[in-house]
Amino acid sequence: MPSASHPSLSSALASIEEQFDLSKIKLQGILDRFRERMVYGLQNHGAAMAMIPSYVTGTPDGSEKGVYLALDLGGTNLRVCEVTLGGEGKVSMKQEKYKVSDQLKTGPVENLFDYIAASVAKFLKDFSSAAPQNPQDGPLLMGFTFSFPVEQTAIDRGTLISWTKGFSCPGAVGLEVVQLLQGCLDRQHVPVRVNALVNDTVGALLAHAYHAKGALLGAIFGTGTNGAYVEAVERIGKMNAAHAHGEETMIINTEWGGFDDERAALLITLFDNTVDRTAIRPRHHAFEKMISGMYLGEVVRTVLIHLVDSLHLFQGFSSELLNKQYGFDTAYVSAVLADKKPSNSADSPTRLVLVDTLGIKAEHVAEGDVETVKAVCKIVGRRAARLSSVAIAATLQHTGHDQHRGGAELQESDYIDIGCDGSVYEFLPYFEEWVREALRDLVGEGAEKRVRMALAKDGSGVGAALCALQAKKQHDRMLA
Ligand code: GLC
Repeated sequence: MPSASHPSLSSALASIEEQFDLSKIKLQGILDRFRERMVYGLQNHGAAMAMIPSYVTGTPDGSEKGVYLALDLGGTNLRVCEVTLGGEGKVSMKQEKYKVSDQLKTGPVENLFDYIAASVAKFLKDFSSAAPQNPQDGPLLMGFTFSFPVEQTAIDRGTLISWTKGFSCPGAVGLEVVQLLQGCLDRQHVPVRVNALVNDTVGALLAHAYHAKGALLGAIFGTGTNGAYVEAVERIGKMNAAHAHGEETMIINTEWGGFDDERAALLITLFDNTVDRTAIRPRHHAFEKMISGMYLGEVVRTVLIHLVDSLHLFQGFSSELLNKQYGFDTAYVSAVLADKKPSNSADSPTRLVLVDTLGIKAEHVAEGDVETVKAVCKIVGRRAARLSSVAIAATLQHTGHDQHRGGAELQESDYIDIGCDGSVYEFLPYFEEWVREALRDLVGEGAEKRVRMALAKDGSGVGAALCALQAKKQHDRMLA
């Protein structure tokens, strides 16, 4: 008997569903606020949704060529890449991942950056074919994807505004990130010059534009969430237009993870508050905590624990891992949502996650419990997707790309390309479907159909290399 028919369980689930529900009208309210905060952030420094000018004034068209290094910090691993841009949208790449321990993530920032520089040195020694052999060859150029909020002052300059995603090295806020890294590289005699500081969303946008011959938005739905889009320079009120050196557009890193930290429009549940107060930075990046891979599993876990405590789940028993903060990985949410097997089958992936991975005793997991866990994952996952659609719809409206195009068939020029990356986008089942469903609510089917979302192929690697190339172009142009 499915346990949803149990009266008190069904009313507990209905109440959870109601708290997480984002009907069209509620979503519309959040969208209005999002658009208002975009405009506010473009005019004012220090906004929670920071709307940071990236100083990148052009997007690639696929013809770019050259060999550049890319360094990627801010996802799960540290990565060093050697990227060969072959023109015609072609790329080849060598890359290596290096683990960043929790000790490095939370210890003195000098240790973290020394480790990064040492990893670059190791990569050049072990893998690179482009590393300069002679001093007169000059250093290799490197784009540094540093996926944290940075107040950028030039394409290769910026200071850390705040850490996110579990990093918290003391003393780093306000430091000039590229100088710090370049200092460590120079001290270790690594022949590399960091000439571009890149947010991963800007990288995703550049990489997708290289591939698709243009794009409006680069979006990350991964460990964190954020987006970058192409803005008209004249609308960036807080920036001196001279910084654009006569160019009309500039990419803006929105830092939408920080949207509505004021809590004026987001409908934040008690479960979100639990996740928030136990996170490394409470009352910060509320929107991100409802969407991204670092937190989705934790939101699910918090709901499940509530159901355990109300004796609606696993006969009131939990497990050590389910009791542990971040014990329910977002990858399990994906596995549960992908589960097509009947809830009573012994090898249902959901049951395997609960029993084999989380260590809940098999005799405590009834068929109805499997159904309940599936329902909770759906409620939390669908809310994440609907909130993500707010950010996309706001960008479409803000840039005037929300118009319906007449005619039965869309022309190639009618499509709006969005390059997406991150584990939630890639692996959370139904994510794009739910995003599209909500987009239809917000901008209508005509505009939703024009949106072409695709995986941005390695924004943090290829995108950083493209940004190093763009920085060189902008630098050479200024000297000319
Ligand atoms: C966090 C960071 C942001 C980054 C995003 C995705 O929101 O603050 O800079 O782009 O995660 O990685």
